[in-house]
Amino acid sequence: MNKGNILIKNASEVVTCSGFEAKTGKEMSDLKIISDGAVIIEEGIIKAVGKSDKILETFKEKEYQVIDASGKSVLPGFVDSHTHFVFGGYRAEEFCWRLSGISYMDIMQRGGGIINTVKVTRAASKKELYNEGIKRLNSMLSFGVTTVEGKSGYGLDCKTEIKQLEVMDELDRAHPIDVVKTFLGAHAIPEEYEGEEDKYIDYIITEVLPVVAEKKLAKFCDVFCEKNVFSVAQSKRLLLEAKEMGMELKLHADEIVQLGGAELAAELGAVSADHLLQISDRGIKEMARAGVVATLLPGTAFSLKEPYAKARYMIDNHCAVALATDMNPGSCFTESIPLIFALATIYMNMSVEEAISALTINGAAALNRAKTIGSIDIGKKGDISILEFPSYKYIPYHLGVSCVEKVIKIGRIVFDKERKGEKICW
Ligand code: NIG
Ligand code: FE
Repeated sequence: MNKGNILIKNASEVVTCSGFEAKTGKEMSDLKIISDGAVIIEEGIIKAVGKSDKILETFKEKEYQVIDASGKSVLPGFVDSHTHFVFGGYRAEEFCWRLSGISYMDIMQRGGGIINTVKVTRAASKKELYNEGIKRLNSMLSFGVTTVEGKSGYGLDCKTEIKQLEVMDELDRAHPIDVVKTFLGAHAIPEEYEGEEDKYIDYIITEVLPVVAEKKLAKFCDVFCEKNVFSVAQSKRLLLEAKEMGMELKLHADEIVQLGGAELAAELGAVSADHLLQISDRGIKEMARAGVVATLLPGTAFSLKEPYAKARYMIDNHCAVALATDMNPGSCFTESIPLIFALATIYMNMSVEEAISALTINGAAALNRAKTIGSIDIGKKGDISILEFPSYKYIPYHLGVSCVEKVIKIGRIVFDKERKGEKICW
């Protein structure tokens, strides 16, 4: 995508979220706001940020596309650091079963759940997955997301895992949102390997991981470390191999049962451990000490009617907390950033400021990209959301409705509410 030159002026506030690494403890509450702010983006990169009058003294308006952001709040683009957005088919029936009281794990054990999506994803063409993927990315863009992580894990065989990752590659090239790819071959046990978890892990290690690593198809390797899925020992075996092949690590950890996935993430130096509804206090402390980002997914807890992760306790114990949607066809079918804000602030005792940090700079840190995205700092990518309201506080206050008016990606306007549905410049 072409890079642009933009001058944003007169913003009622520029919420910079300034920083180049994960924020912890009280740092998460300090959004480093500039009132009457302006931002300059040149060739897609942030060149200056400050008070409007000072910026306008130094930079000439005629050299930029000018956006007058009077009465509007300007923020970094959101980073949705945990999704499974490339998949075939839907599972609306299962959602209704869950409403009637059947649990997510029961559905999975009866051959539904992830395996259900695997069947349809295996049968889907690349074009079909791509077309659905574009629609989902467009929806994310309308919520102000400028970088998204996407996982494989609906193939559970070499061919389909690679297909999913290659589709994400194509989507990354075609769409303004940056797609960061994660290999999640150990998402479930495929029917061919039922009862043979260790054999399946061997298969991934010997047949699939080397192809993913050689083709550089994923930055991260992830695993569903959970009772009746992959044990701590199996997860560790896989992740150590992935690390050896140059991949960074993530885990779906302690979601349904307290298994020790958080402790494993700390031991292996994972970039993030995600879900953590059942994390132990020891796990929290070890993650904080090891600098592992805790990526919390309140949409999933909400959708599964599970208790929320202990965000308040984690933040108070210096664990860096990120928030993400977990967008997937089963446990949480949503791209909605406003929903995540509402749940985090109303049910998880996070302040609005902490939630903003969790979806910007800490989301970036959960992808090991805090040096290049996640804040409005000189030298970072010019990825920005402009709200239709004067303060970031309207985000959760306007319950479940997106306040994002414009989205800028590397200095180009790529979403404009007034022109919704139009392909603006990509
Ligand atoms: O993060 N927990 C495991 N994986 C996904 C759900 C995937 C699915 O149900 O399709 C999650 O919630
Ligand atoms: Fe997930």
